[in-house]
Amino acid sequence: MTVRAPAKLNLQLRVGRLRPDGFHELTTVYQAVGLFDEVDAEPADSLTVTVTGEGAGAVPADSTNLAAQAAAVLAAQTGRAPAVALTLRKSIPVSGGCAGGSADAAAALVACDALWDTGLSKDGLAALAARLGSDVPFALHGGTALGTGRGERLTPVLARGAFSWVLALAEGGLSTPEVYRELGRQRQQGPVGVVNDPGDVLAALRAGDPVTLGRALSNDLQPAAVALAPGLRPLLQVGRDLGALGCVVSGSGPTVAMLVRDDEQAETLAGSLEQLRVCRAVRTASGPVPGARVVEVR
Ligand code: C5P
Repeated sequence: MTVRAPAKLNLQLRVGRLRPDGFHELTTVYQAVGLFDEVDAEPADSLTVTVTGEGAGAVPADSTNLAAQAAAVLAAQTGRAPAVALTLRKSIPVSGGCAGGSADAAAALVACDALWDTGLSKDGLAALAARLGSDVPFALHGGTALGTGRGERLTPVLARGAFSWVLALAEGGLSTPEVYRELGRQRQQGPVGVVNDPGDVLAALRAGDPVTLGRALSNDLQPAAVALAPGLRPLLQVGRDLGALGCVVSGSGPTVAMLVRDDEQAETLAGSLEQLRVCRAVRTASGPVPGARVVEVR
């Protein structure tokens, strides 16, 4: 059984208050884009994880892996042993702000659900996803959606047409809790900028207008990510200088999402970024794309 799950971008991310459970209240607009991790699930005597591909060395191949946790949680919920061999083929940057770990968890949930024929409803699977991480329900859902709560409560958003993105993968990774902590420190020192109203992003998506969407992209976590990874500031500027319609750090970073007019401009911008060597790697992707889906049954 092979399942493919997409990377996510946050087109807009507003961070509200810190809750007693350690999570922040969020309002975010997610879009799933065409950069995918694949997870194979095969029957086995016990739960094993093998990781290959982009950044595999930095991903734990033990029970702490989010995909392994997904298999374990689904097995416990449906009263069976988590006897499955998971192979993760990664393309989504690790610790990159594109929810690669969440994509792997969503893919493992869908793969094991199909392998074990659990009969769990879509809502049942989504509830398990929310237990695994704030972004996991969106990796199941895909498309374009408004996320509230800690990001796990989803409302589908109407997006006309396709949007073309260039993803600039910055050197290293950023730890999500550390970026939230840095935001907390910055907020104690005073106001840190104003994030656009999600209404602007939603209207641009509805109209299928990349120019307006480019202007409306924003992320409350961006100043914190830039403080921890100062190289992001020139990277954002280079994207703008090279004609991107808008540039924003995705989630807690350090991936920078650059919105362009069409796929042709995406290829041109990606080529320029590669030549300038301003980041570790560059990918192009369009969105929205569906969430975690079975792509092969053996
Ligand atoms: O839910 P997830 O495992 O992705 O969250 C990772 C960490 O990011 C949390 O432990 C928390 O520190 C931070 N976080 C947060 N508020 C959210 C989502 C994540 O503070 N809404």
